[in-house]
Amino acid sequence: MNAGHTHEAEYYVGLMSGTSLDGVDAVLAEIGPSGQVRLLHTHYLPYADTLRAQLLALHVPQPDEIHLAACAANELARLYADAVKTVLTDFPGTVRAIGCHGQTLRHRPMDGYTLQIGNAALLAELTGITVIADFRSRDIAAGGQGAPLVPAFHAQVLRHPGIHRVVANIGGIANLTDLPVNGLVRGWDTGPGNMLLDAWIRRHNGAHYDRDGAWAASGTVHSGLLAAMMDHPYLQSSPPKSAGREQFNLDWLDGTLNHLDAAIDPVAVQATLVELTATSLADAINRECPGTQELYLCGGGAHNGALTQRISALLPKLSVATTAALGIDPDWVEALAFAWLARQTLHHVPASLPAVTGARGERILGAIYPACPRRKQ
Ligand SMILES: Nc1ncnc2c1ncn2[C@@H]1O[C@H](COP(=O)(O)OP(=O)(O)O)[C@@H](O)[C@H]1O
Ligand SMILES: [Mg+2]
Repeated sequence: MNAGHTHEAEYYVGLMSGTSLDGVDAVLAEIGPSGQVRLLHTHYLPYADTLRAQLLALHVPQPDEIHLAACAANELARLYADAVKTVLTDFPGTVRAIGCHGQTLRHRPMDGYTLQIGNAALLAELTGITVIADFRSRDIAAGGQGAPLVPAFHAQVLRHPGIHRVVANIGGIANLTDLPVNGLVRGWDTGPGNMLLDAWIRRHNGAHYDRDGAWAASGTVHSGLLAAMMDHPYLQSSPPKSAGREQFNLDWLDGTLNHLDAAIDPVAVQATLVELTATSLADAINRECPGTQELYLCGGGAHNGALTQRISALLPKLSVATTAALGIDPDWVEALAFAWLARQTLHHVPASLPAVTGARGERILGAIYPACPRRKQ
């Protein structure tokens, strides 16, 4: 048996469930001997409202939270297993491993930990496939942020030898990867992505998200609110840095609104939240990535026309497109990244970038939950 490198293509499943709490993205990826990636199958499994509400509640301290989190982790494992089964329907090959990000409940590198739940042992048991999970903890143990982890993957599949590119993944939180022609790959969370947009529209009209940013586009940006939000210390600090619902949430937004004298129309708040995501991303690129020529967007926010228009307008010198222009569907980049990260783990290849996370050095990431050994007949 070859435990390490092989000269043939291998197959991995990637599972991503991000801070948006929208659901599970599952992909089947073919990964070649030098790490080249091909997307074979995809499946999206949205969370039921009850599960989303439970997970959201677990982001802040509450009674009996250890038990509740463990039960939610089991439910997630069953959902993940369903997504894996669907993505593998009619697939005749052998899957080496599932790379499972899990669902973040806390991200506190300043306290030395991050917590992604999803009972990887149960997922291995339900699928019979090796599962790699808990990708972030090792980097935090080495003094890093544990995030973002996708820059190494972006560098593998999207870097160009002659063009300075930046990749921005707009999930619940937005993160960017700087891919200069020469020099280090860097990356960090720039601030809120869709999270506040989703929370605000849900509060005001019950929708899960603002489709194409249509509601936001019908409002006017409130410059006082934008300035107050841009004052957030996170947005003013330098990388390496990573963020979560700890920094950006409805309580923070409500507090900021309360500090302003004027009552602001809800639709203007939505428009201003779009501007916040666009401005924090554009500022980060202008400040930290001089010379960028091309910006590629991925994640659910790439479908928000109001948002992508504002990003393009704030960065007039850049060519802005989604990763589809480079042949990678923007909806599946992160799940593909976790398939690729699982492959790096099994091949004993470090996948963290100290220039991104600030860790003492690169590390092999992830915890391995092996498939059951096959019994001899
Ligand atoms: N058509 C669309 N218009 C506007 N926003 C969208 C659209 N499709 C997806 N989104 C946004 O993308 C989010 C999901 O993005 P995703 O990349 O899955 O984030 P995460 O990694 O945090 O789960 C949704 O919650 C929504 O805010
Ligand atoms: Mg998602």
